[in-house]
Amino acid sequence: MKEQLSKIRDEAKNELKKALDSRILEELRVKYLGKKGVVKEVLGKLGEMSEDTRKEIGRFANEIKDEIGKLFEEASLSIEKSLKEAKLRSGVADISIPQSVPPMGFSHPLTLVTEKMVNIFKSMGYAVEDGPELEEEYYNFDALNIPPYHPARDDHDSFYMGKGKLLRTHTSPVQIRTMKNKKPPLAIIVPGRCYRRDASDATHSPTFYQMEGLVVDKGLSFADLKGTLLLWAKMMFGEKTNIRLRPDFFPFTEPSAELAVTCPVCHGPGCGVCKHTGWVELMGCGMVNPVVLENCGIDSEVYSGFAFGMGIERVAMVVYGIKDIRFFYENDLRLLEQFVK
Ligand code: DAH
Repeated sequence: MKEQLSKIRDEAKNELKKALDSRILEELRVKYLGKKGVVKEVLGKLGEMSEDTRKEIGRFANEIKDEIGKLFEEASLSIEKSLKEAKLRSGVADISIPQSVPPMGFSHPLTLVTEKMVNIFKSMGYAVEDGPELEEEYYNFDALNIPPYHPARDDHDSFYMGKGKLLRTHTSPVQIRTMKNKKPPLAIIVPGRCYRRDASDATHSPTFYQMEGLVVDKGLSFADLKGTLLLWAKMMFGEKTNIRLRPDFFPFTEPSAELAVTCPVCHGPGCGVCKHTGWVELMGCGMVNPVVLENCGIDSEVYSGFAFGMGIERVAMVVYGIKDIRFFYENDLRLLEQFVK
C-alpha cells in the first residue's frame, strides 16, 4: 500500500509538471485530493487492515497527502508566476518604436508678441505692472488730465459701469496708480486688456490689448524717450529698423508724439502692410505732462518722465502680416496653429 501511495505521489508530481494553467491544475486537484480522488480511495481501504498496519499506513498516507498538497501549492505559484511574466513580456515597451506625439497646446500670437515686447523692456530694466480692468473714472481720465468736458474723452467711447467705474479704455491709468504708490525713479511697462464701445471691423474691436510704458526720474528728456524707443524698435523688428516721431496730442503728455517704425515687412519701398508709405504707425508717446506728475504727488520741478502706449494687436498684425484684428479673437485653430515661438 505504501508503494501504491508513493506511486500516486510520483504520478502527481509528473502530471503537475505538465499542468500549465489553473484549469488543468484544478482537474488534477480533484483527481488526487478530491472527495472521490485517488488518495481518498486508497485511504478508504484502511478499514480493511489490522489496527497496527492501519496506524502506520494512515500516518504514511497523511504524509503523502501533505506532500501532494505542497506540490499543488508550488505548482499553483509557478503558474501564477509564469502568467505574470508572460503578461509583462507582452506589455514591454519597445523603445525603438517612434512615439506618436500627443497634440500640444501653443501660445496665442498676441501672447507671443506680448512676451517678446515684455522681455525686451525687462532687459532694459523695466518692471511689469498691472492694474484693474474695472477702473475708476478718476484714474482712467481725470488724473490723466482728461477732465469730463475734454474732447479727448470722446475718443474713448467707454463701457460705463456706474458708481464712477468703467472698463478701462487704455492702460494709462496704471501710470497714475504706480506713481501714487511708488517713489521715482520708476521704469514700468503695463501689458493689459482694454475696452471701448467700438463696432468690430478689420482694425477695431470692443476689447483689445495695450502696452503702456512709463519712466520717471530726475533729468529725463525727450532724447531719453527717443533713444529708448529706437532701441526697442531695433530689438523688436531688427537692427535696420528706424523710427519717426511726429507731433501729436495727448492730454497726459506734453509734448506728445506719434511714433512710426520703418516697415518691418518691406523695409522701405512700400507694401500692403505700410500702405505703400514705408512707415508703420505704432504708438503714442511723449513727456509726462507736469500736471499728471503733480496729480500723483511728484514734484514736477525735480522730476520729469516719458510715457508711451501702443496697441499689441497692431504690433502683432505687423509682425505676422495679419490683416484683420478679429482673427485674434475668433480662435480658429487653422490660423492660431501657424504661430510658433
Ligand atoms: N493711452 C493712449 C491711447 O490709448 C496711448 C498713449 C499715448 C499712451 C501717449 C501713452 C502716451 O502713455 O504717452 O490712445
